[in-house]
Amino acid sequence: MTLSANIDKPFLRVLAGESVSPPPIWLMRQAGRYLPEYRETREKAGGFLDLCYTPDLAVEVTLQPLRRYHFDAAILFSDILVIPHGLGQDVAFKQGEGPVLDALKDVDAIDRLDPAGIRDRLAPVFKTVAGLAKAIPESTALIGFAGAPWTVATYMLEGGSSKDFATAKSWMYGRPKAFARLMALLVEATTDYLIAQIDAGAEVVQLFDTWAGALPETQFRAWVIDPIAQITQVIHEKRPGVPVIGFPKGAGVLYEDFVKLTKVDCVGIDTAVPPSWAAKHLQPHCAVQGNLDPILLVAGGEAMDAAARTIMEALRGGPHIFNLGHGIVPQTPPEHVARLVDVVRQGV
Ligand code: CP3
Repeated sequence: MTLSANIDKPFLRVLAGESVSPPPIWLMRQAGRYLPEYRETREKAGGFLDLCYTPDLAVEVTLQPLRRYHFDAAILFSDILVIPHGLGQDVAFKQGEGPVLDALKDVDAIDRLDPAGIRDRLAPVFKTVAGLAKAIPESTALIGFAGAPWTVATYMLEGGSSKDFATAKSWMYGRPKAFARLMALLVEATTDYLIAQIDAGAEVVQLFDTWAGALPETQFRAWVIDPIAQITQVIHEKRPGVPVIGFPKGAGVLYEDFVKLTKVDCVGIDTAVPPSWAAKHLQPHCAVQGNLDPILLVAGGEAMDAAARTIMEALRGGPHIFNLGHGIVPQTPPEHVARLVDVVRQGV
């Protein structure tokens, strides 16, 4: 990737440290159930994983929100749970139930995971990335992604979503060697997987650490900051010029150490982070992405418009990418998304 080739992509300029006004915009989970055309394609695909592993359909659902809203970035359509699947764990998405995994029961189950299998089993994902690199508009950037090791480990150990992460944390506190083995394996598999996405055409990669905020400080440093720092370092070394976005949701006051120690190029802030605080404490170190409450996008109206402007005002003095503080929820009216894009493109 050369900078001059991409000089016209505002999204990449911000990740290189420039302030761009109005800020480029994309939304986490911009493809998904709030769009009727997504529901139609998903119906055609059969299961959710079939959709992720059928490149033509995955390309199609990635492009759907771009056609409507002309976002500044496209995000590969896939899921963070393709990594456990690629490692050989059983993963299923049951309608209305969320993900169900065959939870790892013991150390032997960790040893049976197959990191070498990632590149073969996840080949359709790389094919989707390559298809997207050709299909997206010239001014749009292409984001690849993976779940961060801690968040992915919670699903692998819990067997699905969890409220308190009791099983994953019991491994972390009670079987530290086994837990460390799983995390080391995930760091390697995730790095390899992201590099393969970059080689297929991803211009930026994002690590989603959705459950970062569940960890106490010591464990946050060990299992959120360290793994993301390792992955970021290898990507910067092996694929120089490709920016890394970290999203440690719920990190609170540890956001500052997160950006300083991981050396990510951009940090996603959740809804609870005051944008003015992020301008002062995070923007001097990296670009900031966020952070409209996804429920304001459901409510719409003046409340949404005003909140979007407040965020832009607070972050306009440094590199800012407009986004939500977490993913779009399925009950979001598509016309509210159109309005948000208009408000952001008007700038402040
Ligand atoms: O448009 C995009 O942002 C790209 C696609 C994307 C999906 N999931 C598609 C998806 C991305 C980036 C993700 C990330 C993801 N997946 C995260 C991290 C970000 C976050 O939202 O916290 C997590 C924790 C997951 C795991 C996951 N996937 C769960 C818990 C569920 C079930 C809950 C739900 O929303 O249905 C999924 C399913 C999923 N991933 C859907 C989509 C569009 C819905 C599946 C369907 O169509 O039925």
